[in-house]
Amino acid sequence: MTLWEPDGANELTKRGTPRKQSKSARGTWSRSVALDPRHRPQSVDRPSSTVRREWARAPQEAHLLDERNARYRRLTVSEIAILQGFDAGWFEVAGVSDWDKTSACGDAVPPALGRAVLQGVVSNGQVGQPTSVEICAGAGGLASAAVASGLEHIGLYESWLPAARLLRADRNWSPELVHHEDVREVAWSQFRGKVGLLSGGPPCQPWSVGGVQRRVSDQRDLLGQIHELVTGVQPDAFVFENVPGLTSQASLPYLSQVLGSLRAPGPTGLRYGVVAGTFDAADYGVPQRRRRVFIVGLRSQPNAMAYNLLDRVHAARTHRSPHVPDSNRVPWVTVGEALAKRPDPGGWRTWAHDYGGDEVGRSAAN
Ligand SMILES: C[S@@+](CC[C@H](N)C(=O)[O-])C[C@H]1O[C@@H](n2cnc3c(N)ncnc32)[C@H](O)[C@@H]1O
Repeated sequence: MTLWEPDGANELTKRGTPRKQSKSARGTWSRSVALDPRHRPQSVDRPSSTVRREWARAPQEAHLLDERNARYRRLTVSEIAILQGFDAGWFEVAGVSDWDKTSACGDAVPPALGRAVLQGVVSNGQVGQPTSVEICAGAGGLASAAVASGLEHIGLYESWLPAARLLRADRNWSPELVHHEDVREVAWSQFRGKVGLLSGGPPCQPWSVGGVQRRVSDQRDLLGQIHELVTGVQPDAFVFENVPGLTSQASLPYLSQVLGSLRAPGPTGLRYGVVAGTFDAADYGVPQRRRRVFIVGLRSQPNAMAYNLLDRVHAARTHRSPHVPDSNRVPWVTVGEALAKRPDPGGWRTWAHDYGGDEVGRSAAN
C-alpha cells in the first residue's frame, strides 16, 4: 500500500506543459494574448488555476479576465495571496520584492488545505505533545495550518532569506523561532522527545536527473534524505507536502523508496505507518485548483491507520466541483467570489486598447 486514493479510485490527471512564450508575446498585451490559456487568464466564474511564480513576470501573465466588459488587468500580490487561501495582508512585509512574494506564495500550501490534513493528524490522537517543528517553511502556509490545528511551533527552518523574512513578520509564532538555515546543517537530535509533529515541504528533484538511484542520492533532493531528519527528531507524527508530479507513473519508484525509508527510518527500531495521498485545495474552500501530495507518518502505527486518516481528510471536504452533484458540499469558490469584497485596484485594459494607447505602452515597459 503506497498511495492513498479516494474510494480506491485513481484520480490522477495529466497536465500539459505550457509552451514557451515568444519574446514579443512576453511584453505585449492584446485581446488574443488575454484570452490565450497559456497566459493563464483567471476567469471570475471559476477557481483560479495554480498560482505560479511566473505570475509576477510578464505583464500579461495570470491576469483577471472580465469578458463581459471586454477588459482585463493584472492581479495584485494581495489578490494572489487570497487566491492561494491566505489573508490579503499575509505578504505585506517590508524588504521582500513582489517577485519573491509571488514566488513564495505560489510554493505555499494553501492554509485551509494544510489545516484539513493537520487537523486529521491531531484529531487522530497521534500527536502526544502539541509541539511542532516546520522545515522548509517557505511562506508559512503549512506552518500557519499547524497553529490553526492547535500546535505550537518550537522551530521553523528556511534557507531562502525572502521566505525567512516573510516567516518573521507578524505571525502566530515568535520571530526568534525562525531559523534562516539549511536543514542539512541542523543538529536535529536537540529536538528528540520534544516534537509532536514534524512537518514541511522538502523539495525533491525526482524528474530533474535520470535514474531512481541518482534521484535519491542527489544532494538537492531533501525528500530522499528526510528519513535521516525523522531519525534525529523522532516525532510522534510527520507530514511532508510535495508536488503532485511525485505520484506520476515515472516518479512512483522514487516515491516508493521515500515511503519505505520513512517507514523504518533508522537502525533503532523506530517505525512509522506511512501513506501518501493527493488532495485539491479547491475541495477545502480555497478559490484555486491546486493539488498537493501529503506524506503522512504515524509513529508505531500500521500503514492502515495513516490510510484511514487520509480517508477522513477526504471525507471532510467542504466544497465540490460544480459539475459533481453532492448535496453535502457547496460548489468550489470562484475567483469572482473570492475577490468580490476587495476594492477595485484599477489598471484595467480594454479590448479597445489592444493595439495602442498609454496603458498598453506602460504595461509593456513594466
Ligand atoms: C515548497 S516550499 C515550502 C512551502 C511551505 N510548506 C508553505 O506552505 O509555505 C519549499 C521551501 O523549502 C526551502 N528549502 C529548500 N531547500 C532547503 C534547505 N536545504 N533547507 C531549508 N529550506 C530549504 C525553499 O527555500 C522553499 O521555501
